[in-house]
Amino acid sequence: MTTNKVDFSAVRWGSVEWTNLCTLYLRACESRLAQPVLGDHAAAEAVDRIDYDFKRMHRASQPWANQFLVGLRAKQLDDWTNPFLTRHPDAVVLHLGCGLDTRAFRVRRPETVDWFDVDQPGVVELRRKLYDDGPGYRMIGSSVTDAGWLDEVPTGRPTLIVAEGLLMYLDERDVRELLQRLTDRFEHGEIDFDTIAPIGPKLSRLFSNGMVKWGISDMSAVERWIPRLRLIDRVPAYANYRTIPLAPQRLLLGFFNATLAGRYDVLNQFRF
Ligand SMILES: C[S@@+](CC[C@H](N)C(=O)[O-])C[C@H]1O[C@@H](n2cnc3c(N)ncnc32)[C@H](O)[C@@H]1O
Repeated sequence: MTTNKVDFSAVRWGSVEWTNLCTLYLRACESRLAQPVLGDHAAAEAVDRIDYDFKRMHRASQPWANQFLVGLRAKQLDDWTNPFLTRHPDAVVLHLGCGLDTRAFRVRRPETVDWFDVDQPGVVELRRKLYDDGPGYRMIGSSVTDAGWLDEVPTGRPTLIVAEGLLMYLDERDVRELLQRLTDRFEHGEIDFDTIAPIGPKLSRLFSNGMVKWGISDMSAVERWIPRLRLIDRVPAYANYRTIPLAPQRLLLGFFNATLAGRYDVLNQFRF
C-alpha cells in the first residue's frame, strides 16, 4: 500500500470517482465508532492519506445515517466472502465495480488466494494512487462488459465474484451477458451482488438522469437466464439493522427494513 499523502483535489464533485470517495469516507467514519458494524480500518487509513476537502464531503455525505447504509451492505457481502475464502484458500476472487473499496484488505484473505479488483480505467487509475498490485492482488482497469479482461484471470479454481453497487447501472442485456460469460468461463463458485427493485430505474429516470438501468425482484428470472446459477441466500440490505450501535439510526434503519424500503436494495448469493 502506498504510504505517501496523495492528492485527490482533481476529483470532480459528483463524478463516479467522487461517489467512490464518498463511500470510502463513509466506511472510514463508521470504522471510527466505538462498536462499528463493518469496522473498515483500511478505509480509515486510506482516507488519512488523501488530501481532499473532507469537511465539504462530510456535509454532503451525512455520515450520521449513511455510514450504516453503506456499512450494513458491505458487511453482509464480507460475511459471504470470508467463509468462501476459508473453504477455498486456493480461490480466485473477482471484485467487480470495486471503486476505492478496501474489501481485499478487510476480509481474511489467505496468501494463496488470487484477488482481482476490477473497475473502469479512470477509477482504477485513481485507485492506483492509493493501493499497489502485489502478490495475490491485482487491479484491472476495464469495463466489466468487455470480454478481454477475463483473459488475465486464471481458471480451473473455485471462483468468488462479488459486485457491490454495480449491476443496477448496467442494462439488463449486459447483466445477462456478463453472468453468462462468467459462468461459462469459471467451473464453480459463487456470485454475490446487490439488486434494486424494478421501480429503481423508473425513479432514476425522474430523479437521477436514468443512471439506474436494471431493477429486479424475482430472482428466479436470473436462474432461468443462467440455469447453472442457484440462489442460495437473499437478504435485504438493512436486515441486520439490530447490529447498529446507535439507537436513533438503529430505529431509522429498522423502520426502513420493515417497510417497502427494506425490499428496495437486496443482496443475493448465487452458487454455480
Ligand atoms: C456505486 S459505485 C460502487 C463502488 C464500490 N463497489 C463501493 O461499494 O464503494 C459503482 C462502481 O461501479 C463501477 N462501474 C459502473 N459500470 C461499470 C462497468 N461497466 N465496468 C466496470 N465498472 C463499472 C463504477 O465505475 C463505480 O466505481
